[in-house]
Amino acid sequence: MTKKYLIIGNPVSHSMSPQIHNYWFKQNKIDSVYEKKELNEKELPDIVKNIRDGEISGINVTVPFKQKIIPFLDKLSKLSKKTQSVNTIYLRDNEVIGDNTDVYGFVKSIKDTGIELKDKVALIVGAGGVVPSIICALQELLLKKIYLTNRTFKKAEQLKEKYPKLEIVKWDELVDFDIIINATSVGLKVEDKIDLNLKKLDGKKFFYDTIYNPPTTDFLNKAKINGHLSMNGKLMLIYQAQKSFEFWNGFLPEVDEKFLNLFQND
Ligand code: ATR
Repeated sequence: MTKKYLIIGNPVSHSMSPQIHNYWFKQNKIDSVYEKKELNEKELPDIVKNIRDGEISGINVTVPFKQKIIPFLDKLSKLSKKTQSVNTIYLRDNEVIGDNTDVYGFVKSIKDTGIELKDKVALIVGAGGVVPSIICALQELLLKKIYLTNRTFKKAEQLKEKYPKLEIVKWDELVDFDIIINATSVGLKVEDKIDLNLKKLDGKKFFYDTIYNPPTTDFLNKAKINGHLSMNGKLMLIYQAQKSFEFWNGFLPEVDEKFLNLFQND
């Protein structure tokens, strides 16, 4: 019987995950289908029950449910426990497991660039749901220092309680860094402008936006205008999907040139 997979979120209409996973299913002749489903919070227990009953074989979770889904799961992987963020769900030994592949997605996207971040300095902008995964990824990449700034200072301080090595800086306090990551929602709307003072930077920096739709943002435009390196969140999306696929099917599907031509540069 055809296996069913879902991405759940609200909104979820713009998600590219169905295209990506259905491409891999077809490529590997796997009899499965991946769909998107917009949910309300009160529907979360029922959707988890569908995994337990075997009606759904796997779920990706997106905004705003990555944390909210946790109470309904049987078990969390080490990484989803650490980040309190679940983006991948599957059944193993009759238990519904919540896992996190966003960390893998970010790490792999950086490794793909060939840029070495070991012993470098990062500045994370934002304190929302994706940030714990980025902190874990940067720790895995062995950065020397991680600064974090957020419009609402208190939320940044709360993150420091969980990740004591973070150094919190005030919004618009200019610190030197090698990589800056936009983890805010500023840029999701084409007209969004990021209110950060990035003019007086010394040397060439690496600007990474977790946003992939639209493919370029005010943050990335500012980088390009000033001659910095820039990258959007598309590869992170692709690689988190690749790792989710592996949890569900037991192997990593191919991300080759043909795949990237189809999904990276639209
Ligand atoms: P959540 O906090 O529910 O996880 P999110 O979309 O993951 O939501 O996070 C939104 C992030 O974008 C936050 O860091 C938010 O900053 P605040 O904590 O100050 O709200 C940031 N953000 C949203 N709009 C912003 C704006 N206009 N300028 C700067 N930061 C903004």
